[in-house]
Amino acid sequence: MWPLPGARPVGQSVGVTDLFDLRDPAFVTEPYGALAAAREQAPVLWHEGLGLWVTTTHTAANDVLRDRRLGRILRPRSEGDDAWTTFDWLHADSILDSEPPKHTRLRRLVAGAFARGHVARLRPRVEEIASGLLDDVERVLDRDSRVDVIAAYAEPLPVLVICELLGAPTADWKVLRDWSQAIVRMYEVDPDAASQRDAQRACDEFASYVEALAAERASAPGDDLLTSLVQERDGGDRLSPRELVATVVLLLNAGHEASVNGFGNGLASLLADPGERDAVLDRLDDAGVVERLVEEMLRHDSPLHLFERTATADVELHGVTVRAGQKVAALLGAANRDPAVFADPDRFDASREPNPHLAFGAGIHFCLGAPLARMELQISTRALLERLGAIEVVEAVRRPTFVLRGYERLVVSPSAGPDRSSE
Ligand code: HEM
Repeated sequence: MWPLPGARPVGQSVGVTDLFDLRDPAFVTEPYGALAAAREQAPVLWHEGLGLWVTTTHTAANDVLRDRRLGRILRPRSEGDDAWTTFDWLHADSILDSEPPKHTRLRRLVAGAFARGHVARLRPRVEEIASGLLDDVERVLDRDSRVDVIAAYAEPLPVLVICELLGAPTADWKVLRDWSQAIVRMYEVDPDAASQRDAQRACDEFASYVEALAAERASAPGDDLLTSLVQERDGGDRLSPRELVATVVLLLNAGHEASVNGFGNGLASLLADPGERDAVLDRLDDAGVVERLVEEMLRHDSPLHLFERTATADVELHGVTVRAGQKVAALLGAANRDPAVFADPDRFDASREPNPHLAFGAGIHFCLGAPLARMELQISTRALLERLGAIEVVEAVRRPTFVLRGYERLVVSPSAGPDRSSE
């Protein structure tokens, strides 16, 4: 949740950065130059405009995500305003926004449900979904010679997959996407009043939808993840009704927002370097090539840029003291371009190895959906490149958001070079 500006640190000499403003469209379009300049200053800086500490290096971001004295701590919005009630409990009862011991309990139950083979079983369905969407993509390309891969492919694919996983009707994907987008808009800087109302309404409708679906599965179990979540037991423990709904809403949100943007950002990075694109096209049948490509897509232009924590005690962090109650933000995009860890970090190197990026986070909140996200991105990237061959970006429109970084539109066309799609 976005913090109110905190008090500037007193009694210590610290680097203060005003090198970037998250509301500045130029920074949102191309943040990496300013983040590199901030990294030159110090690994941890006080950001005057945000009123919190920010990390600029890989080590500092990793340390923040792993330090148990730095927790995900929510400030309820509903105090004095009932319209936020559902929004608040959807977050307070979710695994992502809880801390031990509640987090440990929820993670065990949710991970237990995931471990029942649902993701591995989904592989052929993901391939079918990708292939069906690519039929439409090709039809549009035949007609217009260009296609927006975000709208036609990247957006529907992960929502359809998460619907399959949970056993939600795939016909509902559009409304689920709309609810989820309304909620995640609250994670950006200063959402306006209309966005706040949209998020409140989305939470109410989304929660009722999931409650009804969970009730159906309780009386008529299926072989989906939702049924496993309804049935999951750890000794005498189980998810409470609110925890169940909060988990499903989180999975539907987390399960696709980052995947859409991870695909779009990564594809744009790959296509920006035709030499790299052609090298990948030549070796698409090698699973290792596609695995390394996807890791580099996630590193080079990460879909999630900022995760904040609140200090529960004074914490020494790379030369500064984060005082109890202050917030510190791990900047994942900055970490993933740190030259101390990644040689030539601004270069998209599809065969980079090792690639210890932090796009999925680190520590106790490390992404629970990483195996699904990786499988989905590997299948969808390979399928698109196999079908379309050498393509190039002809129009790219960024979303105006920093925390969730992605494209509004990414229009591609067959490359002006030789047609390779039939090779
Ligand atoms: C490219 C796609 C994805 C990226 C980059 C991503 C990234 C992340 C990151 C950075 C976190 C940690 C947040 C923090 O430390 O505060 C996280 C947590 C989480 N992600 Fe993902 N994610 C992706 C896809 C998915 C998918 C497909 C699912 C579900 C099916 C999912 C479910 C979750 C859950 C449940 C958590 C919370 C884990 C916890 O708090 O213990 N994610 N994700």
